[in-house]
Amino acid sequence: MRIGIIGLGFVGLSFASVLGKRGYSVIGFDTDKTKLELIKNGKPPFYEPKLEETLRTALKKKLSISDDLATLVKNCKLIFVTIGTPQQKDGSIDLSMVKSAVSNIARLVKKSDNRPVIIIKSTVVPGTTKDVLLPILRRSGRVEGRDFEIISNPEFLRESMAIADTENPHVVVLGGTKNKFMKFVEEFYKKLHKNTPIVITNSQTAELIKYTNNSFLATKISFINQISNICQSIPGANIEDVAKTIGLDPRIGSLFLNAGPGYGGSCLPKDVKAIINFSNKIGTKPVLLNAVETVNRYQLENLLSTIKKATGSLRGKKITILGLAFKPDTDDIRDSISIKLINALLRNGARIKVHDPKAIENTRQIFGSKIQYENSVKEALKGAECAVIVTHWKEYSKLNNDHIKTMSRRIIVDTRRILQGHKMNIKYYPIGIGQEFKH
Ligand code: UGA
Repeated sequence: MRIGIIGLGFVGLSFASVLGKRGYSVIGFDTDKTKLELIKNGKPPFYEPKLEETLRTALKKKLSISDDLATLVKNCKLIFVTIGTPQQKDGSIDLSMVKSAVSNIARLVKKSDNRPVIIIKSTVVPGTTKDVLLPILRRSGRVEGRDFEIISNPEFLRESMAIADTENPHVVVLGGTKNKFMKFVEEFYKKLHKNTPIVITNSQTAELIKYTNNSFLATKISFINQISNICQSIPGANIEDVAKTIGLDPRIGSLFLNAGPGYGGSCLPKDVKAIINFSNKIGTKPVLLNAVETVNRYQLENLLSTIKKATGSLRGKKITILGLAFKPDTDDIRDSISIKLINALLRNGARIKVHDPKAIENTRQIFGSKIQYENSVKEALKGAECAVIVTHWKEYSKLNNDHIKTMSRRIIVDTRRILQGHKMNIKYYPIGIGQEFKH
């Protein structure tokens, strides 16, 4: 059996590589020729731990990379759609790329006698598979449940853990009609992930599960950030102890309670906005989710005001930003809080130097010569009046007095509290730990 994967971004490329490594016969398709060339040569177009080696192993086995959709549709029993659904100005998702791919599949299904299952992994709002994508496939003149099937199969992998999560997901969700096609996909997943629970439901529920999952995670983060801000206003109060302790209550759980500069990345911000937009459209006021968003926006203001209080004022100040990626072990800066912070600091007249182990080149594409880029932490800190730790890369938790000796004022604002307890000769302003500002 052959498997087709349409769209080789984080989800598609990780899935194609893991399946290929496991010996499945896979065709990976994308419309971006430059990307295809890189992937064919075993080079992922973005940084993701373990992806390169997994891809290379897969290429040596039965993973082929192609721009020939016709061959894919003709030969693959399972066709996964893993195309992005970017955010539009009003917060809704842009479905155009997914729709166009599904139209192309429909046109090709019509011409072949293959009976594929089209599996939608892209994140789409409830009802999309049934009310938008299925009607497109029906235009082929073929009948669902007989000649083809469409199933919603949302993805829960995390960037920086994409391979591990693809190899061992916590759940598989399948949404659609329970028929022989569904059974076939269920059997495929049972074989692929022996110990993973499989939830079978209708497609609109499957689509909603994805948004519920991400918006719950965002809610946890905004909740702890709200408490963190309260802590910060009570001298001596410590968000770490608060989070650790409530996390011991099994009803709450310890994960995703790390207070910080707010959630970023290509998923949580976009998905919360999309479900808010969707909820408003169907006439259900998303009161809580609006608040989750507001708290997240406020985190940046809170951070900016902490930096202002720590430095006295921002105009002309030399500030070093440590960490540009939205989280460690990725070079992804999409919706990264660091980028928003740099913009805000520049607007306030600060002079910015930045460091990140992986995301410098992506950041350069945004700011060009407006800021200074350094490859070593020591160089980045040289002459700085204040450093702000935004991303919790491991190497920042190893900072010591030697690193900071060339700073012109030794002020560190730590959004992740990774230097807590370090014996360093600095004025230390951790987010979420109450203290008075003295200059
Ligand atoms: C998120 C979800 O965790 C995945 O399950 C989901 O599949 C993915 O979105 C997606 O929809 O594609 P990801 O964007 O890779 O994954 O990143 P997360 O690990 O969720 O982190 C998101 C943001 O929240 C980061 O900025 C991180 O720093 C922040 N965060 C996370 C906190 O501030 N505190 C925490 O306790 C956890």
